[in-house]
Amino acid sequence: MEHSFWHSKWQKNEIGFHEPEGNALLVKYASYLLGEDSPSTSLKRIFVPLCGKTRDIAWLLSKGCEVVGAELSEVAIIQLFEELDAEPTVTPTAKGKVYAKDGLTIHVGDIFKLTSSDIGDVTGVYDRAALVALPSPLREQYAAHLIAITQCAPQLIISFEYDQNEMAGPPFSVNEKTVESLYSADYNIQRLERSVLEGGLKGKVDADNLVFALAAK
Ligand SMILES: C[S@@+](CC[C@H](N)C(=O)[O-])C[C@H]1O[C@@H](n2cnc3c(N)ncnc32)[C@H](O)[C@@H]1O
Repeated sequence: MEHSFWHSKWQKNEIGFHEPEGNALLVKYASYLLGEDSPSTSLKRIFVPLCGKTRDIAWLLSKGCEVVGAELSEVAIIQLFEELDAEPTVTPTAKGKVYAKDGLTIHVGDIFKLTSSDIGDVTGVYDRAALVALPSPLREQYAAHLIAITQCAPQLIISFEYDQNEMAGPPFSVNEKTVESLYSADYNIQRLERSVLEGGLKGKVDADNLVFALAAK
């Protein structure tokens, strides 16, 4: 999608993808990112690509994680910090801006411009509605870039599968075969869940939630 597509969505507040209560599947499968111990002994630093203003960031912070995000829309990130009731420092960079407060750092700009040194070491990647937001072949570019900038950090991916003929994306249908084709050279992939998306996608088409855990080979 063009950047203007997403900027326009945020400007018009057409953000049906945003979940005001956060995502229950993150809570259910968080141990794949955070470890079994609670609270975990080692600090987790989770990268959230294409983060929007997801409430999942607040949840990860509440679990003691540091969070690094990447998001195109400054509108989204201003709202994210407002909703967290946090006053960030804002630093202009050659690639956009960095919003930061305590354990939360968000890179505002195009994720494809970020390098591993921009985001720093991360212990995991949480991809909800990021892979599915991108059309192929941008999706291939995104997967390769994500592997490079996170140095193959473990991932928890939440995607949708539905009949792509029934609806144009985004979100696009990203099934197990697609995840395998994108990531199986670098990761062992485990499908953790397939469940019916209650109410369908946008209330229009039947869809399944898919959850995958990726561990580096
Ligand atoms: C479908 S939304 C998902 C947001 C979030 N993950 C969630 O679950 O609510 C996709 C987000 O990706 C952002 N985005 C799209 N292309 C991007 C890019 N090239 N770099 C950074 N963010 C991008 C959009 O602005 C949008 O907020």
